[in-house]
Amino acid sequence: MRDVQPAQRGEVTIRDLSKSFSINGRNLSVLRSLNLDIGSGESLAIVGASGSGKTTLLRILAGLEEADSGGVLIDGQPIDGVGTERAVIFQEPRLLPWLSVLGNVAFPLEMRGMPKIEARRLAKRYIQLVGLAEFSEALPAQLSGGMAQRVGIARALAVQPEILLLDEPFGALDAMTKITMQEELARIWREENVTMILVTHDLEEAVYLAGRVLVLPKEKGGRIRDIRIDLLRPRNRSESRFVKFRQELLAEFGLH
Ligand SMILES: Nc1ncnc2c1ncn2[C@@H]1O[C@H](COP(=O)(O)OP(=O)(O)O)[C@@H](O)[C@H]1O
Ligand SMILES: [Mg+2]
Repeated sequence: MRDVQPAQRGEVTIRDLSKSFSINGRNLSVLRSLNLDIGSGESLAIVGASGSGKTTLLRILAGLEEADSGGVLIDGQPIDGVGTERAVIFQEPRLLPWLSVLGNVAFPLEMRGMPKIEARRLAKRYIQLVGLAEFSEALPAQLSGGMAQRVGIARALAVQPEILLLDEPFGALDAMTKITMQEELARIWREENVTMILVTHDLEEAVYLAGRVLVLPKEKGGRIRDIRIDLLRPRNRSESRFVKFRQELLAEFGLH
């Protein structure tokens, strides 16, 4: 466990972060001198065209990818690879098919040396939080896509991270399930008091979930926009200011 003041738990600082890839001998600059401060308990969405570097940024934050220069600090300390204070949720939950829902959520806890009984007790609490108490004993193959993603969320939260990193978490779900999951994630974020960084191409999802939306530029060297979404929660998608924010984001992409 990291020894930090509760008031600054989950604070993310990005300083002069740059990343490029080399493709067929050509240098592709993806992130250029990015600076960003994300407060403890904040909910930030990152949007941008396909290929604008959203996943790259999230992978660097997760410690799965190294920056070329600059870096990321969490609660004032530079990160070095993956860490227990961060949990990542991808589009596919990648559950272990031979383990039950309970087994899947308890697994990372047991891997960290938590006694089995305690791991299962904690896992049950998070399975309840995502509304799957009745499916604790089900196998992944018996779950719908939305249910499987809920298990993934429970598994990520059970390790009690300070920071939740999500990359297009609902991208594979149908429209109705997606809305339900967004509502649940909004509730969970409030209840768990976790810093949330969400990559999405869904602008409505960004306005629904985030307190701030970062728009990555399409053309390299373009400027990054940082838009504050000061709507009350729970949010109403048909309210006029919600619609306005959505339009404002669409306009960032030259759309209406
Ligand atoms: N491992 C890699 N090797 C080479 N190029 C990569 C790699 N990962 C990403 N890229 C390139 O970096 C750019 C940004 O990718 P990515 O971060 O996945 O964008 P996004 O998630 O916004 O769609 C893309 O042009 C992609 O081709
Ligand atoms: Mg991506």
